[in-house]
Amino acid sequence: MRKIIAGNWKMNGKLENLLEIKKISNEFALSEIEIVICPPFTLLSAASEIAKNIYLGAQNLHPESEGAFTGEISADMLVDLGITHSIIGHSERRTEHNETNELVARKVNISLNKKLQTIICIGETELQRKENRTLEIIEQQLLDSLASNITFEKLIVAYEPIWAIGTGLIPEASEISKIHNFIRVKLVELFGSNASNIPLLYGGSVNGSNAPEIFRVANVNGALVGGASLSFEKFAPIIRAIENTDP
Ligand code: 13P
Repeated sequence: MRKIIAGNWKMNGKLENLLEIKKISNEFALSEIEIVICPPFTLLSAASEIAKNIYLGAQNLHPESEGAFTGEISADMLVDLGITHSIIGHSERRTEHNETNELVARKVNISLNKKLQTIICIGETELQRKENRTLEIIEQQLLDSLASNITFEKLIVAYEPIWAIGTGLIPEASEISKIHNFIRVKLVELFGSNASNIPLLYGGSVNGSNAPEIFRVANVNGALVGGASLSFEKFAPIIRAIENTDP
C-alpha cells in the first residue's frame, strides 16, 4: 500500500515560504513516501521549479475545463503546469463556498479524468458526532460525491473530522480505526475488491507527536496535514513517523 503525506497550506504562504518546500524536497529526496505539498495557486508555478522529489497539489479546481468562470482554475491548467494532485471537497470549501456533494462529485470526476491524484475529503461536524451520526454522514458523502463509474485508481480518501481541524483535538485511535475500516468497507461495496488499494488518509490536528500512534492504526495510509505542514521543522517529523511505521 502507498503511504502518503500531504500538506494543505490553505490560504498561507508567500514567495519566502518556498524555502520550506525546498527543504522538504532536499531532505526526503530518497524517501519512498508520496510527499505532496498543496500551496496556494499563486505559488504552484514557482514551487514546480524547486520541488524535485515531491509532488505538488492544488487545493481546489473548477468542474469545467475552460470558459467564462472568472477567478477559477481548471484541472487542465494544473496538468499543464505539471501538477499531479488535487484536494477536492475540503470541509472549508464545503462550508465557506457552499460546495455540495453534487458539486464535489463533478470536481472529482474531472480531476480523475485529467489523471490527477484526487484527494476527496469527508468528515462529520461536532454536532453530527455528538448525535452519533458520523458513519451515516460519511456513507452519504461517499455515495453522493463518488459516481460508481469513476476510475478510482487515482482516488485517495481523506477522513477529516471537522471538529478536529485546527483545534488540537483528535479522535481516539480506536475511533479512527472504526471509521477508516468503515470507509474501506464502503469503498469495496461501491467499487469492488480493488478498492482495497485506495489510500485512506487521516486529517485533523496531526503533528509530530501524535503521528506515530495515528499511523499504527490499520487502514490509515497517511495524513492530510494543515498547520503542521507549513514549516519544515513541523512537517518533517510527520514524514519520519510514517517512514518508521511498519507496513
Ligand atoms: P490541521 O492539520 O491544521 O488541523 O488541518 C487539517 C486540514 O484541514 C488539512 O486539510
